[in-house]
Amino acid sequence: MKTRETTMMQRIERPARGTAARLALGAAVGAFALNAGLAQPRDNTEAEIEKYRQMLQDGNPAELVALKGEGLWARKQGPKGASLEACDLGLGPGVVKGANAQLPRYFADANAVMDLESRLVHCMVTLQGLDRNKVTARPYSGAGQSATDMEALVAFVVEESRGMRIAVPQGHRMEREAFARGEKIFYYRGGPYDFSCASCHAVDNQRIRLQGLPNLTKDEAAQKAFATWPAYRVSQGALRTMQWRIYDCFRQQRFPELKYLSPASVDLITFLGVRANGGTMDNPAIKR
Ligand code: HEC
Repeated sequence: MKTRETTMMQRIERPARGTAARLALGAAVGAFALNAGLAQPRDNTEAEIEKYRQMLQDGNPAELVALKGEGLWARKQGPKGASLEACDLGLGPGVVKGANAQLPRYFADANAVMDLESRLVHCMVTLQGLDRNKVTARPYSGAGQSATDMEALVAFVVEESRGMRIAVPQGHRMEREAFARGEKIFYYRGGPYDFSCASCHAVDNQRIRLQGLPNLTKDEAAQKAFATWPAYRVSQGALRTMQWRIYDCFRQQRFPELKYLSPASVDLITFLGVRANGGTMDNPAIKR
């Protein structure tokens, strides 16, 4: 553990001077030293970068996942034998183009603010008659497995907003409330390390190994983060959704496991989305 901790510390590029930065950095080192001590295999950085380069040459594997999703969108399924083609993602039934650039948003038919994944589940349940618990039981693919239906659908919908301007709405009272709660969660400190999201994401130029820790309080970084998730993760060989991104950061923060589609997850995604308004969608991206 000692040796690993030292290695971790050496791998972190220190940010510019500043007590706050240092405090956060110290905290981050704690978490990542712990990470290294868990059963996760240490990745081979060199091999990974090489794989990454090859992937970029061949194109983004997310395209294949999106193709699968396109097929699923049009396939008649469930007790009602319906496709998702009548699903309203916010811009009207069946409109996929540009929809993700304006999510999360308020939906009157559910009287709730929903992110993309919540809305897809809503459509599967209401249009296709599928069982909510079954649909949400296993949203993320495991190592070496092919994309789940949710991942595929997400890839398809998200691809249809590439190049669009991010415009997450704040017109409805519930949208503003979701943003306010999301902001609160972002700065809320707790858990064994007394971390908040901001502990890792409110400092400039902080890195852990190859992973940049974007300062999500800055417009440019906030836009880039929102614009590039969901993403195909080369290191995991899988398309990862925005819900997964938040779930994994909760884990890194040593918070209780984030429940799929929970209000807290939608609030955080709303906060990130509104902060990114004005940016340009570029997802699914390809990431380390
Ligand atoms: C212990 C440090 C840590 C904490 C706390 C943390 N994150 Fe992260 N976060 C990371 C790391 C590391 C990455 C980059 C992962 C990578 O590159 O693979 C990341 C990436 C992200 C990204 C994607 C950024 C991009 O440009 O790709 C978002 C969005 C994000 N985190 C949101 C959050 C939110 C919201 C919280 C609070 C619930 C949070 N993070 C808490 C370490 C943390």
